[in-house]
Amino acid sequence: MITKCLFPVAGYGTRFLPATKAMPKEMLPIVDKPLVQYGVEEAVEAGLCEIGFVTGRGKRAIEDHFDTNYELEHQIQGSGKEVLLDGIRGLINRSTFSYTRQTSMKGLGHAILTGRTVIGDYPFGVVLADDLCFGDGIGVLEQMVNLYQRFKCSIVAIEEVPASETHKYGVIAGDAIEDGLYDITDMVEKPAPEEAPSNLAIIGRYILTPDIFDILESTPPGRGGEVQITDALKTQAKNGRVLAYKFKGRRFDCGGISGFVDATNYYYNRFFACEADDKIVSIKNSAK
Ligand code: G1P
Repeated sequence: MITKCLFPVAGYGTRFLPATKAMPKEMLPIVDKPLVQYGVEEAVEAGLCEIGFVTGRGKRAIEDHFDTNYELEHQIQGSGKEVLLDGIRGLINRSTFSYTRQTSMKGLGHAILTGRTVIGDYPFGVVLADDLCFGDGIGVLEQMVNLYQRFKCSIVAIEEVPASETHKYGVIAGDAIEDGLYDITDMVEKPAPEEAPSNLAIIGRYILTPDIFDILESTPPGRGGEVQITDALKTQAKNGRVLAYKFKGRRFDCGGISGFVDATNYYYNRFFACEADDKIVSIKNSAK
C-alpha cells in the first residue's frame, strides 16, 4: 500500500516573475483552484492521503490553504458561497499535511532527500505541482499506483516530446515490456537533442521506493551542479528495476506562460463551464 505523497514546493518559480515575487508559484490559480490543490486532489484520489511538503521561504500561503480559515468560514457560513469551499474542506478532512523545509536549493534530488524525514521507510508518490495532469478517467498517479501494486518498484511517468524540447526534461531509454511500459536502461537529465537517448521525457509524477534516499545521499551533483533525481533513478535502475510509464491523459507545463494558459482553457472548457452556471446561481442567491 502507498499512502504518502511528497510535494517539493521550495522552488522560486522564476519563469513566472513578477507574479511569483511574493506568491508561491504553486498558488497560481487555474480558473478557481491553485495548482497545488489539483496535485493534492490527484494524490488523494489515488489513496495517498498523507501529504508531505518540502517547502521553503515565502511558501506560507500553501500551509494556510490546507488549513481552516475560521474568520472567512464564519463570515460565509449559511450563505450560498459555502459550496465554493466544499472541495478544499473535503481534502483537508481526508488528509494529513506535514512540512519540512529545504534551506538551500540544490536540485530536485536534494529536495526529495530533504523529504525523507516526512516519508520514512515507505514507498511514496512525488508530484511536481506545476505539471498539471488530467487523467483519462483515472488520475495519472492512480494509474501509477495500480502499476506499483504489480511491479513493486520505482516508476516514472513519461510522455513523448519533440527533439527540440529534450533539454527541458529527464529523458529515458528503455526496453518495452508491454504497451506504454518500459524497463529503464538509461536516463539523462536535460540532454541536448543529439545526446538524448529517446524522445521519452519524464514528467512530474513519480512513485519511488525508499531505497532511493540512500542512493540520493551518495549521488554527486549532476546537471547544473544540482543533485538530480534522474541520476539517482539511473543508479536504482542499474541495481534493480525502474519502470517508465506512458500515462493516459493530458499534461500541461504550468511553470511557463503558454502551458498555464493552455491548461486554463482546457480546464475551463472541459470541466468548469458546465458547473459554473450552478455555482453562479448559488452565489447570486446568497447575495440577495
Ligand atoms: C525536473 C526533473 C526532470 C523532469 C522534470 C519534469 O526538472 O529534474 O528530470 O523531467 O522535473 O517536470 P525541472 O522541471 O524541475 O527543472
